[in-house]
Amino acid sequence: MDAKQLESIIKLKEARVGVFGLGYVGLPLAVEIAKVGFKTTGADVDTNKIEMLAVGKNPLPDMKLDSAFEQLVITRRLDFSSPEAAAAKSDIKIICVPTPSLDKYPDLTFIRSVAKYIGKHVKRGDLIINESTVGPKMTRKILCSVIEAESGLEAGKDFFVVASPERIDPGNPISLTDIPKVVGGINKESTKLAVLFYSSFMKKVVPVSSLEAAEMVKMIENSFRALNIGFVNEVAKFCDVSKIDMHEIITTAATKPYGFMPHYPSIGVGGHCIPEDPYYLISSGEDVSVKFPILSLALNTNESMPYYVLYNLLNKCTEFDLKPEKTKVVIFGLAYKKNIRDTRLSPALIFHNLVQNEGFDVKVYDELFSKEELRGKSFSVFSPETDECHIAVIGCDHTHIVNLDFTKLKNLKFIMDGKNSLDKKHVPVFGIGGRILLPET
Ligand SMILES: NC(=O)c1ccc[n+]([C@@H]2O[C@H](COP(=O)([O-])OP(=O)(O)OC[C@H]3O[C@@H](n4cnc5c(N)ncnc54)[C@H](O)[C@@H]3O)[C@@H](O)[C@H]2O)c1
Repeated sequence: MDAKQLESIIKLKEARVGVFGLGYVGLPLAVEIAKVGFKTTGADVDTNKIEMLAVGKNPLPDMKLDSAFEQLVITRRLDFSSPEAAAAKSDIKIICVPTPSLDKYPDLTFIRSVAKYIGKHVKRGDLIINESTVGPKMTRKILCSVIEAESGLEAGKDFFVVASPERIDPGNPISLTDIPKVVGGINKESTKLAVLFYSSFMKKVVPVSSLEAAEMVKMIENSFRALNIGFVNEVAKFCDVSKIDMHEIITTAATKPYGFMPHYPSIGVGGHCIPEDPYYLISSGEDVSVKFPILSLALNTNESMPYYVLYNLLNKCTEFDLKPEKTKVVIFGLAYKKNIRDTRLSPALIFHNLVQNEGFDVKVYDELFSKEELRGKSFSVFSPETDECHIAVIGCDHTHIVNLDFTKLKNLKFIMDGKNSLDKKHVPVFGIGGRILLPET
């Protein structure tokens, strides 16, 4: 197949699409593609997931799938299989596998593994799109190289390649198809084909000049976040000592109509994007002897935050005459982000281990998980009606947690608000960045 033929079957929605990796990124994407009429196969190495999906069950309990999902499965417009089978039957292959970091370096195991499956079955004229987050040049150097070695074909000449990093924000009501889609190809034909394909279901497509330009867009977006959060966390430490309410400062600075974007300090940064993606950029910098000292320091500051909250908690324990071995701490909210169940790299979990290591009796509370699920993860589960709690720590600002009636908790001495999310003054609330709410006398 050549570019003209692929263009024609994309226009007719006759191109077969394979989506590799059915997590937070891949699964909703596969649904959107199938919805507009492409016969789509979702592929994953997790056979449990494939079995559930094949009978129309959503394996991601915190992700609401489009209402069309079940019907798409029933009509087999959307089906599910192993990566190998999906590689064999698709013309457009979209990669959405995890790209975590390992000891602050990219862990490209999943990219290499999916590239092998694809390399075994890639045909001339296929379009391969990488939506996984990677540093500049990694699509070319790793993904393309493995596919080329496996297939004997040449990227850009025999098959088309595009980098199109996903930009979703779980929990954010902006729909997937409303987020402008950045696409950068290994050559002009690749970009053109990807623009045509994505334009069939995305509201706006933004072509860029190369694979590396697209990869860099993602790097700069998430590093920008990490950097600014690092800065506000640094300022928060100053405001704590200086007793200046940083929350007031930020919300006031945000009234400036230009040149300022609010970021907020917290117990830490979690998830698989902001704390990890910047390490991809830093590692790419090492390849060309360019350092990112400011970014590296921001990441260190963000990683220090659970330790910083622990330090504050221990100081407060001295003030309140609480001894760790006789003190019950409850962590409210375990996810890294409001109203979702994703606990990957969650600072609340890091904090849980830190406070447990200090000898406190630690329990957790999070209604987004069943008690059985939490016990299955070796947590002691807190029951607000019956259990005692001396220190409440807000690990995540889920709505059900912010709305909880903390006055009803037995023997509560103070709250450490790791998200600056509470505004009631019933017991002392110690936030981050000079935010202290004392009971009215
Ligand atoms: N989750 C987010 O909010 C988000 C946002 C933007 C970008 N991203 C990026 O998108 C990519 C995917 O992230 P995610 O959150 O969807 O990950 P995830 O862990 O939720 O899902 C990834 C899926 O890929 C599967 N997988 C692993 N190896 C595979 C292989 N060889 N073949 C097929 N499937 C395989 C896993 O079993 C898993 O189901 C990552 O690069 C991530 O950084 C994620």
